[in-house]
This record gives sequence, structure tokens and C-alpha cells, in this order.
Amino acid sequence: MRRFILFTYLLILSAVTNAQLSFYKEPYRPQFHFTPPINWMNDPNGLVYLDGEYHLFYQYNPMGIRWGHMSWGHAISKDLIHWEHLPVAIAEEKDTMIFSGSCVVDSFNTSGFAKEKGQVPMVAVYTGHIEGKNQSQHIAYSLDKGRTWTKYEHNPVLDLGKKDFRDPKVFWYAPQNKWVMAVMWPVEKQVQFYQSKNLKQWELMSRFGPAGDTTGIWECPDLLQVPIEGEPGKTKWVFMHSPAPYMQYFVGEFDGTRFTNENPSQKIYRPDYGPDYYAAITYNNLPANQPPLTIGWANNWNYAQDIPTLPWRSMTSLPKTLSVKKINGEWILIQKPVKQLESLRTAHQSWTSIKTKGAYKIPAGGQSIELTLTLTPAANSTSGIRIAKGNNHYFEIGYDAATNSVYVDRSRAGETGFSAAFARMNRYEATLGSRTKQISLHIFFDRSIVEVFANNGEAVLTTQLFPSPNNTGMELFSNSAGVVFNKVEFWKIKPAW
Ligand code: FRU
Repeated sequence: MRRFILFTYLLILSAVTNAQLSFYKEPYRPQFHFTPPINWMNDPNGLVYLDGEYHLFYQYNPMGIRWGHMSWGHAISKDLIHWEHLPVAIAEEKDTMIFSGSCVVDSFNTSGFAKEKGQVPMVAVYTGHIEGKNQSQHIAYSLDKGRTWTKYEHNPVLDLGKKDFRDPKVFWYAPQNKWVMAVMWPVEKQVQFYQSKNLKQWELMSRFGPAGDTTGIWECPDLLQVPIEGEPGKTKWVFMHSPAPYMQYFVGEFDGTRFTNENPSQKIYRPDYGPDYYAAITYNNLPANQPPLTIGWANNWNYAQDIPTLPWRSMTSLPKTLSVKKINGEWILIQKPVKQLESLRTAHQSWTSIKTKGAYKIPAGGQSIELTLTLTPAANSTSGIRIAKGNNHYFEIGYDAATNSVYVDRSRAGETGFSAAFARMNRYEATLGSRTKQISLHIFFDRSIVEVFANNGEAVLTTQLFPSPNNTGMELFSNSAGVVFNKVEFWKIKPAW
């Protein structure tokens, strides 16, 4: 079966490469976001950097456009922007699907998987899923930089006999020379922290949760050390995860055993306040000078399997760097799109000092674009920008001064008939931490996705939309003549494929 899947995949992949020029131009296909060539994907998995290559593994169904036969798809990139598709890395086998997990580079060969001098094992830690029966943690290793994988013969390495126990995120904890695993008890809404010296034997250290958002099941944990913005050398620990169908984070300390939250416990903090951001994890083994780097799945389980894209379904978010900043006495996660994206910019235009009561058409547009916008709000004003505009349709991004919040509204943005849930889930907002004289919005629009970064990454909103390809217009809007659009910058973004 595994051979068959691999063979079919290779066949398709070569056809894809040959026909790539036309293939990647289907309606709704993003031009600078990662999508699999064909078929279904969900969570990013095993994000790891090694020898100049960023690896992106992902939950993949090699056999269809809906969830099933979960395996690890694989792509690599030298710059996080241009991706090369590789064959399925770890395939479903017999009754065991390959669920989400992480990858580490075992530089000290603690696992003993390297047999020859100079070999550095890459080790994947993932959940083996037996439908309706068991979830346990498994490992597989690669001795050729992720190209081929061998499942460990004594799997599973951590089995509690539970039906729901998944999504191990493993990282090296240097102060104690050990591996740490964060792994979920989804139903109990609790993360557990384990330690290991060799990636094979695991010992429970502590638990965290339920806490914050406990409405849905808890999935996909990540625990990481994050720099404090503007305080070189200083860090905090962030625990982030996916309480379905959104994400939340906590900021505090980790002492090698236990995580403690330092933010107010009654408040919910989200890495993303839009509808389409889930299962994000961060890269392991980044060069020492690089800040943490994260990628999420830009979709929502409420309608994920019905979105009207063919022959693929789902994309990843843009890669983003992470830091934290104290705003009004609370630790806030700051996210910024990676700088490398600037290499795709073209056709720059800018406008300054615009005032309008009503709408102001901007003489530019497109469906693969980037915008930065600074505006000075007036008391109780609502103002912002509409994109994907045409034929009475648009996607609205606004700032509401009365509530100090940034919002996105996709209710008039395009196709919604494929899912009642999608049609209903159309307006999302993020309240900003403090009032600033100017509001800045950094916007990426890529055919069927919009990512908004407000006030330099203090709040992010990721939203899918399915507009007609003809709707390429843009306009500023404001309900008060007192609002000043200080500066609008615009770029077309070149396709990365
Ligand atoms: C999150 C998730 C994970 C699981 C995977 C299965 O989207 O449900 O908990 O490992 O997807 O595909």
C-alpha cells in the first residue's frame, strides 16, 4: 500500500512539475502561500531547519480532497517563500494513521539512530492514530536530511492506552540536556509535559490546564522561549495551542519541569483573532540568531472540508516571527511576517494625507497584493479599507474607534453557498491593548486569503474569502471627515510558484 501511494504520488508530482505553469493558476489558488499540488492538507507538522533548508511537513491525504489516510506530506524551502514539493515523508500504515507532531535534529545522537560518523538523525515524533481505539506517540528517523524515513521498530514510545492523546511537540531543553515533549489530552483540556534523554523513554513532569478557552477540545500544543521586544537577551516562555476551532496562548515561565502563566487567568489571548488560523507550531533547530518562527493552518474545522477549491484543499499561513511585549501590564504575542516576503514585491505605489467621508477609490488593485496603511482615527469613527472590490462585493478591514478594535468582514466578499457555517462566521474583531494616536494595518491579500497585522503585529486576523477573480478594486472608507489616512503603500506580489 505504502509503495502504491508513493508511486501514485510521484507520478502526480512529475505531472505537476511539468504542468506547473498552468497548474498553479486555478481560481482561488494562492500565489505566495503554500498549498499542496493536489488533495487535502491540514496542520503543519515537524517544522524544522537543517543545513539551509526549512522543512514543512503537513497533515496530508495522498488519496483524496477530504480528510483521511493521514500521512505526512513534505516540502522544503531555502527562504520560506519558494517551496519545493517532495514525496510523502511518513505514510499511513495498516490501521495506523500518522497524526500531527514535530521534528528534531538529534545533533548528539541521543537516540542512537546514527550508525556512522557524521550522520545526524532527524527524528519525527508524531501520534499514531488507530481510529476509535488508540492514540500513542511514535518516532521515525531520517539519516538523509528528511528525504527518507524509517519508523522505529519498537513504536509506540509513549502509550497510555488512551483514545485521545496527541500532537507531541518536542524540543531540546539545553539547561538540563534533555528533550521536552508537550502533548495533549484533548478531552480533558490539558497539556502534559514529559522529559526524555533519548527520545525513546518518556517520563511525565507536569500538566497545565484546563485554562483560558475551554469551549472546544485542546489540540496541537507548543511551548517555546520567545524574546521580549526591545529588551535584547531577555525572554519569556509561551505556551500556545489550539482549543478548537481557534488558538490561544499563555505567557510566563518554564523551569524545565513546569509552565506557569503570568497573564491574567480569566482573559483569553489569541495568536489570531480571525476565523482561519489553527494548529500553528514553531520551527525547531533554527540558527541561534534567529527569532522563533511559526506557521499555521489557514482554515477552520467548521467548514474546512467544504471550501470551494480544486484540486487541492487548504493552505498554510504566511511564516511569521514571534516576540512578546508588555502592553498595559499584559504579555502580548507580537507576530511579524518574515522579511523574505519583501523580495516578491513589485509595482510599488503610495498615497498620503487622504481625508474622506464615504469612500475614496484607490487607483490600484489586484488579488495578490500587499498594503500598509496608517490612519489617525477621529472620536467614535469607523474607517479602513475595502479590497477585492467589484460588482457590489468587497472584503472590509476596519478600525472602530469606539471599541478600539480592528475587524474584518467577509460577508460581502464572495462565494459562501458551500457552507452555512462559513456564511455565518463572517465578522471577526480584535480589541487592541492600548489606544495609540495612529493605527497601522499591514495587509496581505492572496486570492482566497487575507492576513491583517495590526499595530506592528500586536493583533493578527487571518481570513479566507472566495471572491470573483474580477473583483480587484480597492477603496478607503470612513464615516467621519475627521479621519486622516496618513499613508497608504501598495505592492503587487509576484507569484512564488
Ligand atoms: C488538528 C488535528 C490534530 C490531529 C490532526 C489529524 O487539526 O485534529 O489534533 O493530530 O488534526 O489530522
